[in-house]
Amino acid sequence: MKSREDSESRVPVITIDGPTASGKGTIASRVAEHLGWATLDSGALYRLTALGVLQDGANAEDVESVAKVARELDVRFAGDSIFLKGEDVSLRIRQEDIGNLASRVAVYPEVREALLERQRAFRQPPGLVADGRDMGTVVFPDAPLKIFLVAAVEARAERRYKQLKEKGFSVNLTDLLEDMRARDQRDASRASAPLVAAPDAITIDSSGLSIDQTVQAVLDHWSTRQG
Ligand code: CDP
Repeated sequence: MKSREDSESRVPVITIDGPTASGKGTIASRVAEHLGWATLDSGALYRLTALGVLQDGANAEDVESVAKVARELDVRFAGDSIFLKGEDVSLRIRQEDIGNLASRVAVYPEVREALLERQRAFRQPPGLVADGRDMGTVVFPDAPLKIFLVAAVEARAERRYKQLKEKGFSVNLTDLLEDMRARDQRDASRASAPLVAAPDAITIDSSGLSIDQTVQAVLDHWSTRQG
């Protein structure tokens, strides 16, 4: 009988890592749709942990309390909706206060460890497109295609601004740009699983590319890999 590890590692994974608001989520879901694969939005797990910390009144500065929240997350993904303890929190976790707290709790190695197996469990046939910061470096180091998606910080801030406005949130572009720089800095400089391209990752700069062009670039790389 094959071990779970054997059969899982044969399931193809495309990893898409990159800084905040580089378009990873959108690109990942379009690529997955095209291939008929599942997606893993790993950032959502960090955002859910942040929301769990707030809801439980846990101390965000205390690693063990935060890790406990991460280990015990009662979460359900249903299509585009995400439920925490049975409550639909899909919109709530996209707010900037949660994004900022997520980036703070993501610094703790114990929290990252607590979320590791949960992320790997998404690797199911016929394939997975996983987006985040450390998908290609830590979570799926054997992925056959790794993309590192970047874009200029100004382009990212504008995209995020539009995205939040469309969801009906009130936002300020200058604050957003400042938060984004702080978040980039924290993600790139943390000791545990910092935001870096895996040595075998292909970097795509989407600053001047449309969504369709970026999706096509990823699919082209995948076709090339397939021979
Ligand atoms: O939408 P945005 O790219 O800003 O964030 P996200 O992908 O939803 O992730 C929220 C936060 O979780 C990020 O700022 C990262 O600090 C953290 N994160 C991480 O550390 N590792 C991942 N694989 C995904 C997210």
